[in-house]
Amino acid sequence: MLIEARSVTKAFGAFKAVDDASVVVEEGEILGLIGPNGAGKSTFFNCLTGDLSVTSGSVHFDGIDVTRAAPEHRARLGLARTFQVPLTFESMSVLDNVTIGALLRHHNARDARTRARDVLQRVGLGPLSDAPAKSLGTPGRKRLEIARALASEPKALLLDEAMAGLTPTEVREAIELVRRIHGGGITIVIVEHIMEVIVSLARKVVVFHQGREIARGTPREVTGDPHVIAAYLGRRKVRT
Ligand SMILES: Nc1ncnc2c1ncn2[C@@H]1O[C@H](COP(=O)(O)OP(=O)(O)O)[C@@H](O)[C@H]1O
Ligand SMILES: [Mg+2]
Repeated sequence: MLIEARSVTKAFGAFKAVDDASVVVEEGEILGLIGPNGAGKSTFFNCLTGDLSVTSGSVHFDGIDVTRAAPEHRARLGLARTFQVPLTFESMSVLDNVTIGALLRHHNARDARTRARDVLQRVGLGPLSDAPAKSLGTPGRKRLEIARALASEPKALLLDEAMAGLTPTEVREAIELVRRIHGGGITIVIVEHIMEVIVSLARKVVVFHQGREIARGTPREVTGDPHVIAAYLGRRKVRT
């Protein structure tokens, strides 16, 4: 397994945003992580990447215990993520934003730029490389966020609602992009509200609700699960 979270809990005061979550991501898979707003998906990603420290539990990446490791250390080991709210440097060019991601691997700025140009081509942003990031629309911003993560040459990529706000056509293009990234050998964990995305990309899905895992299985299995249906309808309990 590439990522292993064991009994991860993240509490903010008395409130557990993630409550005893154990999730394994196998190398080469695309795992879907779904759940209603506030279920703890982004917080869980933050615990995996080290953007938040866990209250209890452990995180292993590629066989290494990274529970207390800084985000940069985890990134160096090959763990990359996109942010639900992108960390874009607005006045910098698209290329420079991606070059920052590439600097993790290349200490020479010229090599980092070359790497960034290559990644921008791959995500379809090549022609916009020299434009200021702030000139990008929603689809461009989403791609820039993915490019920044890819520039760090990850083994695993965590996508946090990387397709939110896209039109159906843009979503289909983004699905193709994720397929290509996966085809290039990168393991993917994808958080997405659009079920079409999850169904077309993931063979395995984990469902969170109120910080806890309530179901796992194929997309078909989990979407038919009464606990999952109830969670999305906002009810706390359902009799099965
Ligand atoms: N820094 C924080 N401090 C306090 N509560 C937080 C913090 N971050 C997230 N939460 C709460 O944790 C819960 C899970 O949030 P989040 O992980 O963003 O959910 P999701 O990504 O599934 O929508 C929410 O109730 C949210 O308000
Ligand atoms: Mg979220």
